[in-house]
Amino acid sequence: MGSVLMTGDLHGNTSHAIDLLQVAVREECERMFVLGDFGAWEHTAAGRRYFDVVDRVARKKKVRVYFLDGNHDKSSLLHELYGSEPDDEGFLVCRKNIRYAPRGHRWTWEGTRFAAFGGAYSVDKGWRLAAEAQRERKAERRRQFGSARRPATEGTLWFPEEQMTDAECAALLAADSTPVDVLLTHDKPRAADPDWNRKNLPECLPNQDRVQRVVDALRPRLALHGHLHYRYTDQVGDTRVEGLGADPEASHPIGYESSDSWLVLPLPYAPEVAAEREIA
Ligand SMILES: [Fe+2]
Ligand SMILES: [Fe+2]
Repeated sequence: MGSVLMTGDLHGNTSHAIDLLQVAVREECERMFVLGDFGAWEHTAAGRRYFDVVDRVARKKKVRVYFLDGNHDKSSLLHELYGSEPDDEGFLVCRKNIRYAPRGHRWTWEGTRFAAFGGAYSVDKGWRLAAEAQRERKAERRRQFGSARRPATEGTLWFPEEQMTDAECAALLAADSTPVDVLLTHDKPRAADPDWNRKNLPECLPNQDRVQRVVDALRPRLALHGHLHYRYTDQVGDTRVEGLGADPEASHPIGYESSDSWLVLPLPYAPEVAAEREIA
């Protein structure tokens, strides 16, 4: 029986990624799955380097890393770069040991049916757009002084594809609404009620409603998500919801421990066994 190390947001934090790969080895997990805000920033040199380092360490540790997209991942670029050659299970191969689960992707590991639905609303969207505009003004000034450099600024800090649209969500569910055992998302389902949540602006709610529609349609026994940077457990109807914490550099509540950022999911997933082990 295999296990998967499920983790919250990494935000491109290399040392946390390496720590988690070490946890995966310790917990005898051959797979690690990151629930979005992985740090897919391959439009930057630092982002490409991060992928290379995580890939190299994952190879050494014999752990394969999977992720779905968070609001802070440039998922349009992942499709552009890797969309044409999915692996046998339908994941996009970003590196040999780093694979991306596009929105609506389904797969089965050891008899357990999974689906992934990434995306969320960025509460710091205004700041990100302002920073992009500031970069653009600087680039424009340099051009006026004769610089030939034309650095891209739009779509470098805020990604227009950050959340599912209603149409996208409806189309994915229309294409396949058969139930799954475990649902993986970045955002929380609307009905889940953590006691710490800084992502409850009105603008956050439409995507939570979409995730809720996915939960209602696919009826998972277990739903795991990141994005809130907060470890909590809730029950929504027949679905147990587990929110995972993020890397230590991210915003999080007082009392955070790095063990809040992961849990071990034994496969095949059986809710009774998981409850006994206080896992899921
Ligand atoms: Fe995050
Ligand atoms: Fe997020």
